[in-house]
Amino acid sequence: MTSFYITTPIYYVNDIPHIGHAYTTLLADVLARYHRLLGVPTHFVTGTDEHGQKVWEAATQQGITPQEQVDHTVVRYRQAWKKLEISHDDFIRTTEARHTRVVKQVLEDLWDRGEIYKGEYEGWYSVSEERFYTEKDLVDGLSPEGKPVERVVEDNYFFRMSHYQDWLINYIQDNPNFIQPDFRRNETLGFLKKPLKDLCISRPKSRMPWGIDLPFDTDHVCYVWFDALVNYISAIGHTEDEESFQRWWPPAYHLIGKDILTTHSVYWTTMLKAAGLPQPRCIFAHGWWLIGGTKMSKSDGNVIDPLGMADKYGVDALRYFLMSDMSLGQDATFTEEAFVRRYNTDLAIDLGNLTSRVIKMIERNFGGKLPDAGEEGPEETQLREHTLAVVASMKEHLEGMSLDRGIARALEAVRQTNRYFDQAAPWALAKSGDLAALGRVLYNSAECLRIVSGLLYPVIPGKMTELRMAMGLSDAAPKLGDLSRWGLLEPGTSMGIGPSLFPRIRPTESTENPSGDTKSRATKKAGPGSSKATAEASGLIGIEDVSRVNLRTAVVREACAVEGADRLLKLKVDIGAEVRQIVAGIAAHYGPEEIVGRTVIVVTNLKPATIRGVESQGMLLAAKKGKKLRVITVDGDANPGWSVG
Ligand code: MSP
Repeated sequence: MTSFYITTPIYYVNDIPHIGHAYTTLLADVLARYHRLLGVPTHFVTGTDEHGQKVWEAATQQGITPQEQVDHTVVRYRQAWKKLEISHDDFIRTTEARHTRVVKQVLEDLWDRGEIYKGEYEGWYSVSEERFYTEKDLVDGLSPEGKPVERVVEDNYFFRMSHYQDWLINYIQDNPNFIQPDFRRNETLGFLKKPLKDLCISRPKSRMPWGIDLPFDTDHVCYVWFDALVNYISAIGHTEDEESFQRWWPPAYHLIGKDILTTHSVYWTTMLKAAGLPQPRCIFAHGWWLIGGTKMSKSDGNVIDPLGMADKYGVDALRYFLMSDMSLGQDATFTEEAFVRRYNTDLAIDLGNLTSRVIKMIERNFGGKLPDAGEEGPEETQLREHTLAVVASMKEHLEGMSLDRGIARALEAVRQTNRYFDQAAPWALAKSGDLAALGRVLYNSAECLRIVSGLLYPVIPGKMTELRMAMGLSDAAPKLGDLSRWGLLEPGTSMGIGPSLFPRIRPTESTENPSGDTKSRATKKAGPGSSKATAEASGLIGIEDVSRVNLRTAVVREACAVEGADRLLKLKVDIGAEVRQIVAGIAAHYGPEEIVGRTVIVVTNLKPATIRGVESQGMLLAAKKGKKLRVITVDGDANPGWSVG
């Protein structure tokens, strides 16, 4: 690929950015960052759609000019993207002169060549969606999106979109990767089975003056979609900066939500064709984030604020969740429980533990200097080959737009390294003083961390920069060439890490206890003479004492020995809302393979403790007598996370 120009839809400036807007912008950001990592010249543009009836109405209501209104509201988008570390090269606003000039030139050119004509428009107009519908489109008197519509008859200008129907069908058929995913391509072809109408591209100023004047009739302004779509070429200097335009057009990648497929796959493509311009490389429509099965929308009051999530859990936690939890193209459901679970499992436990144990053992045993790699044994060969295969697969996942799977593979590399580390048991090597073998294990584990830090850098740039600095890597932004080679870490490099890179998120009451059964956990202060005081004196406890202990069913997912402790096993237990690490004194009674897969009972609200240098985030219940011990398990089927009491 010679160059990569990635765009997001330009968002309606009046809206408050929500998780849906943040998702498209983040996805574009991650793709842009990966292309930069691949060394492909990249240009990333986002921006705001600032004309139209809603802005006009909002400004009128507030007694300010529409320009003042948009200058005020655009700040929300600028600030949101700054906070989410969006690395756009340009932010285009449709009220900027560089945009309005290009829109006018495109209109003038199409008018001169007879591609636009004057006619009478009669139809159903949805103010909130800023688009017209025909009688047939309406569902129970509302737009197909369920919005109110009003009847409008007026003189207007039309673009001869119908001329291009056959051309467009052929173009889409001849270029199978043009509209993606495949089912969106089929959706567009399905839409094109009906006769394509001409597109109304104007509004009489008498009804709505907030827009770009038509150069050939200043009593009309340009219809907002025609104006907005042109941003993709005005931002890169169409008609004004030929060099820039030639550089970025046509290798353009339009990322959109599925709600605006037709405007892009039909309106925009035919506009470009009529203007004599080549088509972009791809239009990719992703799915929606749903809340409880429905699309997020301001009017339904179910929007999730991305900035609130970033404040609560961190920008990288949000970026990671949105990028890894939606299978690209499909819809996905947003829940805070899923967010916390994914963060804890992938980042806090898998990547976080690998990071801290590798770097801490280098600090402890080699004074913080990376040891020599030593001789590569069969385990190291396997680790190297697996990790480099994951790097190669990331490129394929990017090309195939299956980013979530690419991320999952990077996490596989982390898990593989954790297994390598556990099997090599470096703590035993340290104990026996075999520094050469210990150095080999730590060097190879650190190499894997270096590569993973680069692979995940586009997704979680803040945390991966921190990790790369901790590993003494001078270039925060990695290059693919460096990721596809093994053994680049210099022995002797200083490494050191502060407190946990990914502190575990302790689920709040609502995420931990979805049943909402919190009443019984409240503890009352016991005054003198209260029944509690009497009970304490007798050694009995009240029900409120029992219910303070939060017990849950949990499935043991992984188990392994604890460095230098014969009696302890380190377990990863799935408690439904998250996976926890627990250190249990059961090694004399159960081997790791015996305990994995069992459904056990765990105390989940115990203060975390560090046992032999390993954090334990809960306690497993077991029955004991003398030297005998049996873990308490659950009879029959039970999912992880059931409350026990
Ligand atoms: N202004 C037009 C786009 C013009 S592009 C030339 C517009 N703006 S919008 O503010 O409504 O943004 C729509 C886009 O926001 C969607 O296409 C999608 O990218 C994103 N999302 C809005 N809600 C969403 C979800 N619930 N889930 C995922 N993304 C969604 O339409």
